[in-house]
Amino acid sequence: MAKPAFKPQRTMWSKKYTYDYWMESTRVPVHTGFFIDDLRTVKLGWWEERQCQSAFIQLMGSEGVSSSRVTEIAAGETTRPLKFSLDEIVYVVSGRGLTTIWYDNGSAKKSFEWQQHSMFLIPHGCHHQFSNMQGDKPVRLFHYSYLPLGLSAVPDPDFFFNNPRATPDDLASQEGFYSEAKMVHSPEMDEALGLRVYWYGNFFPDMKAWDKLDANVRRGAGGKSVFIQFPNSEVSAHMSVFTAQTYKKAHRHGPGRAIIIPAGEGYSIMWEEGKEKIVVPWHECSLFVPPNRWFHQHFNAGASTARYLALHPPMQFHGHAEKVEDRAKDQIEYPDEDSFIRKKFAEELAKRGVQSLMPADAYSNRNFEWSKAMGKQ
Ligand SMILES: [Fe+2]
Repeated sequence: MAKPAFKPQRTMWSKKYTYDYWMESTRVPVHTGFFIDDLRTVKLGWWEERQCQSAFIQLMGSEGVSSSRVTEIAAGETTRPLKFSLDEIVYVVSGRGLTTIWYDNGSAKKSFEWQQHSMFLIPHGCHHQFSNMQGDKPVRLFHYSYLPLGLSAVPDPDFFFNNPRATPDDLASQEGFYSEAKMVHSPEMDEALGLRVYWYGNFFPDMKAWDKLDANVRRGAGGKSVFIQFPNSEVSAHMSVFTAQTYKKAHRHGPGRAIIIPAGEGYSIMWEEGKEKIVVPWHECSLFVPPNRWFHQHFNAGASTARYLALHPPMQFHGHAEKVEDRAKDQIEYPDEDSFIRKKFAEELAKRGVQSLMPADAYSNRNFEWSKAMGKQ
């Protein structure tokens, strides 16, 4: 079958990147804007080359940095084999299935099973296929990689897809490579982030159920977080969980983070300093990206715990201030926030017939310690 046309018309200073031309060449729908209400129902189109239903999602703040895409696999079907030169995170939006991976070196194929809310890494340079193990409904997968950056450095898709160059390392064929991720204790992280553990591995069976989290004292709302590191990869992620009828502090950082909601109901507010505020409603399977250096703030407006999973851009794009005094410019404390924030929160809670559980002290005491006020959470 003929490959789709790929003819970048690059011009000096253009912010249309090689990745954008490649994406267009697939003829698959590209969704833009600030958020996707539901990855389970977002409109897809036929991708002739891959022989599957798919859609690209390029939200504001991800352009040129990270790639987000949805694949749908029909009941009982298997995707075509693909060798991809970059690490890719896959999050299971819906359904149950199997991934098979293998390398050019003739080592045995490995398979592992997943279900809705699983997350795993497909390591760079391996061949892989996804199978829908259900006989009656489709599977949807969400894929995240640094392909836009890759194509900016090497503007040739054939370098990234089915490149015949054998892969030097073959970590994924090792025993236990896809066994469940483990918690690792890290004193260095304690110093850097106030978090004592991170989650290390390639397979995370259920992001909705994971409960081994550490208190994230910096961001408020009694929030807990876990950082996620994949072996032999610069790709990383974190998940935060926060209590019902509370909200976190506004903060800002670099571009390209894809935020998926594994569970909960609420909204986020995003704004560029001094500009109009954008409200992003969310629930399970919503997706949004905080644009580069825009403040954003997450609100749990539901009656149960909410969690979000943030897939990170490369460290050089994190955009976190290094010095403590600069960090203060990138986070808004509760006593300093715009009156709109509390007003909107009260309105959203009233719509759902619940009340704010934000402690009054949090609004007056800049050094308010959530865990002491509300018991250990
Ligand atoms: Fe953030």
